[in-house]
Amino acid sequence: MGRLLYVMTKPCGIFITFEGIDGCGKSTQAVRLCRKLRRRGYDPLFVREPGGTVVSEKIRRILLDRKNQITPLAELLLYEAARAHLARTVIIPALTQGRAVVCDRYYDSTTAYQGHGRGLDTRLIETLNKAASDNVAPDLTFILDVDYRTSLSRRGKVPDRLEKESRAFFNRVRRGFMSLAKQKRVVLLDSQDDIESVAAEVWSRVESLLPPKRTPRAR
Ligand code: TYD
Repeated sequence: MGRLLYVMTKPCGIFITFEGIDGCGKSTQAVRLCRKLRRRGYDPLFVREPGGTVVSEKIRRILLDRKNQITPLAELLLYEAARAHLARTVIIPALTQGRAVVCDRYYDSTTAYQGHGRGLDTRLIETLNKAASDNVAPDLTFILDVDYRTSLSRRGKVPDRLEKESRAFFNRVRRGFMSLAKQKRVVLLDSQDDIESVAAEVWSRVESLLPPKRTPRAR
């Protein structure tokens, strides 16, 4: 029934995601984009993954808690569970209302981290990504690329469970993101550059996709 309802009310908003290894600057760019959209009269919804709902934020805490030891498959399923709840209860309804949704990470992170980083079966990940997202793909994805050293220098002092991973792990994840950058919806940006020039590039890509603003009807 849920899927049928979704098919009947196909999302018509615009869905933008930001991706990259930890410390790549995606959160900064996502927040800036939302601010700019608001200044231009749009009403964007900003969410992050894992998270964005009460339940998904609880799953996030489990995933990032450095005291937890989680097997790779359990980790994958927890990310997908957080996504399934967020997509169905927040992202899809907002897109259906015609809103712009900006998401700090989405299913490309699973392909890069759990697929390339952990080495889990990429076909299984693809299947789970599709199921958890109700087959809703982003219209535009920015992958922000930085090298490992820059990524380390931009992170907080106490690493979370994922940030504790090795340099080799992050290099695999980074290569994973590179391989995803071949898709048409993806824009790969060098995030070693200064924040302003990355933000300008992001805006020029987003602007070309934006629907006309809804202006109040004359009475
Ligand atoms: P994030 O919120 O970007 O962390 P931070 O704000 O500290 O950069 O993401 C949380 C972590 O979860 C990050 O290390 C990437 C990881 N992650 C996955 O491994 N798989 C996924 O599917 C997602 C969405 C995130």
